[in-house]
Amino acid sequence: MPERAALITGASSGIGLAIATALGEEGHALTVVSRRPDKLADAAAELRAAGHEVHEVAANLVDEEEVARVVAAHRERYGRLDVLVNSAGVGVGSAVADIVTKRVDMQLDLNLRAIVLFYRECAALLRAAGSEHRNALVVNLSSISGKSGQPWLSVYSATKAAVIAWTEAMNKELAADGIKSVALAPGFVDTPMTEFIREQVKPEDMIKTADIAEAVRFLLRTSPSCVVPEIVFQRPGETL
Ligand SMILES: NC(=O)c1ccc[n+]([C@@H]2O[C@H](COP(=O)([O-])OP(=O)(O)OC[C@H]3O[C@@H](n4cnc5c(N)ncnc54)[C@H](OP(=O)(O)O)[C@@H]3O)[C@@H](O)[C@H]2O)c1
Repeated sequence: MPERAALITGASSGIGLAIATALGEEGHALTVVSRRPDKLADAAAELRAAGHEVHEVAANLVDEEEVARVVAAHRERYGRLDVLVNSAGVGVGSAVADIVTKRVDMQLDLNLRAIVLFYRECAALLRAAGSEHRNALVVNLSSISGKSGQPWLSVYSATKAAVIAWTEAMNKELAADGIKSVALAPGFVDTPMTEFIREQVKPEDMIKTADIAEAVRFLLRTSPSCVVPEIVFQRPGETL
C-alpha cells in the first residue's frame, strides 16, 4: 500500500491535470479519471514520465455506476485514499429561453451529483485516512460564478453555488472525522474550458492552472486543526 493516495477526476486536462501533477510531486500514488480514454492515456503517460505512480480509469461520471466503479478500482489498486479532487466539470452557455433540458441534466449530474456520489462511495476510505492522520482532504471545483451568478452561464453558476453549499455541509459533517473539504472558486483559468472566451480575455490575463495546484499544495500542509472551507481566485479587476 502506498503511503498516500489521491483520486482526481477531470485529470486529463486543465486544472485536474495540474492538481494531479502537484499531488504526484507531493508523494501521492494517483488514480486519474476522465471521460475520453485516449486523452486520459496521454495525461497518464505524461504523469508517469514525470515519475509518478498512476492508475487511469476512464469513466463517464454522469453515470452513478461508473462513479462506484472508479472508486472500487482505486480501492483495489491502492487500498487507501488521502485526497479526493472533484475537478471534472462542464459548462454550457445558454440564454434562459433557449435552455435545453438534457444540457441542464448533464451539468447537474456532472458538476453536482457526481461529487455527492463520490463522497458517498469514498466515505469509508476517507474516514480511515482521517482517523490515521486527521488530514484527509477533499477539493471540490466550484467557480467564481458560484459566488456571483453569471448571465448565460446561469445553470452552470447554480451548480457551482451548490458545490459551495455542499462543501460547507461536508466540512460540518466530516471535520470531526479528520476529513477537510475545500471549494475552489476561480475566475477564468487558462484551460480548454475557456477557449470560447479567448477573443475577449487573453490567456495571459487568465489565472494559471499552476496557481490552483499551488493552493492544493498549501492545503496539504495546513495542520489538522486548520480548516479552509473556500478559496476564491479573482483576476485583477474582476469583482464578485
Ligand atoms: N477553466 C476555468 O476558467 C474554470 C473556472 C472556474 C471553475 N472551473 C472548474 O474547474 C474544473 C476543471 O475545469 P478545467 O478548466 O480544467 O476544464 P477542462 O480543461 O475542460 O477539463 C475538464 C475535465 O473534465 C472531464 N470531464 C468532462 N466531462 C466528463 C464526464 N462526463 N465524465 C468524466 N469526466 C468528464 C474532461 O475529460 P474529457 O475531456 O475526456 O471529457 C476533462 O478531464 C471544472 O469543474 C470547471 O467547472 C474552471
